[in-house]
Amino acid sequence: MPEDALFAEVLDPGNRADPYPIYARLRRTPVARQRDGAYVVSTHAAIRSLLFDPRLSSEDLPPSRRPRTGNPLKDWLLNPIRNRVANAHRPLIFRDPPEHDTLRGFVMSEFTIARVNGLHGRVAALVDGLIEACRGRDTVCLVDDLSYPLPVAVICDLLGVPEQDEPQFHAWATRLATALEPDARRDEEARRETVATFDAIADYMRALIRRKRRQPGDDMLSGLARRDRPGMGEVDLIATAVLLLVAGHETTVNLITNGMLTLLRHPDELGRLRADPERAPQVIEELLRYEPPVHFRTRKALGDIAVAGTTIPKGAPIVLLFAAGNRDPERFPEPDRFDPDRTDIQHFGFGGGLHYCVGAPLARIEAEIALVALCRRLRDPRLLADPPPYRPGASLRGPENLGIRIGGI
Ligand code: HEM
Repeated sequence: MPEDALFAEVLDPGNRADPYPIYARLRRTPVARQRDGAYVVSTHAAIRSLLFDPRLSSEDLPPSRRPRTGNPLKDWLLNPIRNRVANAHRPLIFRDPPEHDTLRGFVMSEFTIARVNGLHGRVAALVDGLIEACRGRDTVCLVDDLSYPLPVAVICDLLGVPEQDEPQFHAWATRLATALEPDARRDEEARRETVATFDAIADYMRALIRRKRRQPGDDMLSGLARRDRPGMGEVDLIATAVLLLVAGHETTVNLITNGMLTLLRHPDELGRLRADPERAPQVIEELLRYEPPVHFRTRKALGDIAVAGTTIPKGAPIVLLFAAGNRDPERFPEPDRFDPDRTDIQHFGFGGGLHYCVGAPLARIEAEIALVALCRRLRDPRLLADPPPYRPGASLRGPENLGIRIGGI
């Protein structure tokens, strides 16, 4: 089967529940040229070498209003919504050095370990409240009841968004994450809705930033807005705030939901975590390898790049298939086995290199607290459906919902 057909299978929502056999077939050609000129990279070694290669660009393709090509990958790469995002409010995830490094430096100076650790108590209280709200029920719907509301509340806290605006944030985050999916609806109406969402959130952020400048608080947005930062104008600040919301929301939802799904499929591991919460960090690391929330990211080649016996020509789009690298048998023994006791676990769950996730410590804390609490407090949890229904997104992959029967709290 041509590799084009294989990547089309990855994008096909019908394969969302178990894309791993397709990844195994893709890995036979570590760097696979697609008919449209894009290159799909699927082995651990090739992904790793490209992640650290300065000839890879994260800046988006030039503005384009080209009509749909009928090729899902090409349509996605040429998607005018992405281009509009890229040009009007281009955040650091879509930028190259030196601007990327300047903006990232500002974010890192505010995303301190102390600030993240300071959120520990708040995350625990939120998790507790969300689980408590399920008391008296026979079933819980993990996404609606916990995984979804938690990260958005935490990001609002981090940024200093007033509590009463959280529901609005929640709605925006959902719409943006859905619109940025590779296989999102791309008709005129969907495009208009997405642009309107971006405009609404940008207006909100602009007003909030101005408020923070007048009356700074202890939050991250006040910190980012307060200092004199050459290279970080108001538009960059808005783009950064929106990025933190979008990048930290759906991803964390998926980690918690995929995590509970995996533990329910491996009751021994669930029992071990319940008995010994100290195991949480190693369980989370293995989850990020085994069921990562982000399956792939794209780049563009700035020069001809030779990798794994193939030369990717300058200008070609590149798809780094992280989730395939995470299951590469050349790198991980028995890669399809969920084994939190692995000691050597260099996964791509948070990417790698220049764009390595800035929110990784926060995501780890949220997932650890949520999974330990769920394992300890839900009595006799059992899946209602396996596999659960999945959202259509191929890159940000996760269940639409996860019904769990419980014997009480
Ligand atoms: C970048 C995954 C949570 C903020 C990334 C990348 C991945 C990732 C794979 C690399 C993107 C690339 O290479 O193009 C995840 C996962 C998360 C998570 C799996 C949760 C389980 C968060 C949180 C935040 C965040 C909670 C912030 C509140 C960011 C930002 C970047 C990023 C700002 C861009 C960094 C850069 O371009 O230098 N994330 N993320 N992420 N993430 Fe996360």
